[in-house]
Amino acid sequence: MKLLRGLTLDKPKLRCVVSDGTRIDTKLLLLREGLSKEDLRQQEPRIADVIKADDLEEAEHRLRIDYSYWSTEHVLKTLLPHLKEVPAAFEAVGHIAHVNLPEELRPHRFLIGQVILDKNPQLRTIVNKVGSIENEYRVFQMECIAGKPDYVTDVVQHGNRFRLNFSEVYWNSRLEHEHQRLVDTFKPGDTIVDMMAGIGPFAVPAARKRCQVYANDLNPKSFQYLCENIKLNKLGSRVVPFCMDARHFMQGLAGSAKSGNSSHEDQSGQHEDGQRSFPADSLVFQHAILNLPASAVEFLDVFNGLYDEHSWTGTLPLVHCYTFSKGAEEHAEVQQRVEAALGAQLVEPLDVHHVRDVAPNKVMLCVSFRVPQHILFKKSAERGDQQQHYKRQKCDAKVAAQ
Ligand SMILES: C[S@@+](CC[C@H](N)C(=O)[O-])C[C@H]1O[C@@H](n2cnc3c(N)ncnc32)[C@H](O)[C@@H]1O
Repeated sequence: MKLLRGLTLDKPKLRCVVSDGTRIDTKLLLLREGLSKEDLRQQEPRIADVIKADDLEEAEHRLRIDYSYWSTEHVLKTLLPHLKEVPAAFEAVGHIAHVNLPEELRPHRFLIGQVILDKNPQLRTIVNKVGSIENEYRVFQMECIAGKPDYVTDVVQHGNRFRLNFSEVYWNSRLEHEHQRLVDTFKPGDTIVDMMAGIGPFAVPAARKRCQVYANDLNPKSFQYLCENIKLNKLGSRVVPFCMDARHFMQGLAGSAKSGNSSHEDQSGQHEDGQRSFPADSLVFQHAILNLPASAVEFLDVFNGLYDEHSWTGTLPLVHCYTFSKGAEEHAEVQQRVEAALGAQLVEPLDVHHVRDVAPNKVMLCVSFRVPQHILFKKSAERGDQQQHYKRQKCDAKVAAQ
């Protein structure tokens, strides 16, 4: 073999030493395809002596390379030779693969889906995003292009189990690192408020870290899977789930609004529809998360005057708000939008974390800041002027954004 280095079969996933198929005491050493006896002797003159001395035989061997051998990319390039680029990449969500085919590939979608399905044995369902309209629950329409239209799947991330129906709730596997990054900043014993929690990708790992979590989502289906994931991860009351608008949720936790839920609660404080009651006292928390990048900043006004000064103890809360930005002067522009929404200036500098590039010239950011007490606590009359100023700025920012 040393002598023939460089002359043996060299194809990914294929071995160059194989069984002879007829004799158990004999193996075949496969040489590069198309290499004749004459070529071999020319390229390695010593081989004739080795063959003689070691009593080797030279033989022809037919190797069959079929569909199962070739990569998705190779098969698609072969089947659709007119395409400049083939869509071999996908986002996996449990047994589901999600592709986002451009319009010109729509006529080939079933073929593309079938090849992806054939080539990835862990997948059972291939979906293509349809249209660009997402509803307020951030769920996109999809079409099953191969496999079974079964959208309920399980995902495991960092030891956390998530069950979800991909056609009914928001899920983005590309945020796995970001969920972990933020949760890593929490300390065991912290109280976390997740205002747009989805099915729990922040709430579950935070609770497993022994934080106390209050998690809310407007989408009743997200709420249903959030409850299921609390059970799957055996979190008990370490995650308290809610299903309502984020503003209403925060007002409820602060004690400035009641749940609005008229159903009867059982002994554990749970209502017939699975919702919990707000805590009896105003909730003091260390972190609030708003992950609804398209509009989360607009919810920040809820923190303005949310608490009575006497009902808060300890450090002021950190808010982690996700948003999109156009790149270049992201920091200054975001700071302006945040302060306009809050209705006052921040005291400590804003921390801006780049989460990911969403599109050319569009980035997703996580903006973290501590809510100053002049914002969080109910106002006295003399701050009215300042508030008016920021109200005007907020209107200007809205007009500019349009
Ligand atoms: C981008 S997803 C993020 C979900 C989750 N935090 C995650 O990281 O996967 C935004 C979520 O906000 C929820 N949502 C939209 N409007 C809301 C509102 N007004 N109040 C509370 N939740 C809302 C949607 O249903 C969706 O689950």
